[in-house]
Amino acid sequence: MIFRQLFDRESSTYTYLLGGKEGNALLIDPVKEQIPLYLQLLEELNLKLSIAVDTHVHADHVTALGGLRDETGCVTMMGEQTGAACVSETFRHGDVISVDELSLTVLYTPGHTDDSYCLYFKTPEGDRVFTGDTLLIRGTGRTDFQNGDAAAQYQSLHAHLLTLPDATRVYPGHDYKGWTVSTIGEEKRFNPRLQVSDVDEYVSLMANLNLPNPAQMDVAVPANLQCGKVT
Ligand SMILES: [Fe+2]
Repeated sequence: MIFRQLFDRESSTYTYLLGGKEGNALLIDPVKEQIPLYLQLLEELNLKLSIAVDTHVHADHVTALGGLRDETGCVTMMGEQTGAACVSETFRHGDVISVDELSLTVLYTPGHTDDSYCLYFKTPEGDRVFTGDTLLIRGTGRTDFQNGDAAAQYQSLHAHLLTLPDATRVYPGHDYKGWTVSTIGEEKRFNPRLQVSDVDEYVSLMANLNLPNPAQMDVAVPANLQCGKVT
């Protein structure tokens, strides 16, 4: 298996490349500005891009889904709740996304947005979960716009992520401090957002973050509903 964690410095977004035994590849949360880099890497590693997935409609960067589909003919996928008009296929909770021998189980984890998903990836070398903006390292995705819902996020975290084995490696959609990977067990112990006693405490914590809007939000959300076409 080929596994790469790629980083967009402008938006602090992580993109993940997975490649299987037969040379087919999947990209998770690719960023439009990085398309030339992805195409270069795919060629150098002798991979064919089969699927590009967004974990949710992003507000902080423009997606590469449309551009990658144009360049490579890959399938573009998002969750069934997405408002993006131009994905080729949608998935729902419990679906399995497969590329060669690699299988990712789809977890519906609303809260950051109402179309937020995580992807659980079991491998012989250990389990991983791609958490989008649902669970970040020592944080969680904000819930104050795009149909965000802190109570739903609390349920998603506790029902679907914190029930995974403690050794499961956590690969988030962003990091702003330089963290690259964590584990479910580590986040249970040290993530300040997970040290609350109940859903009400979580909702009030999330309601008092006072975060500024993301710099690219006014451009990114409309563009991402059109798979990355900026008009
Ligand atoms: Fe997001």
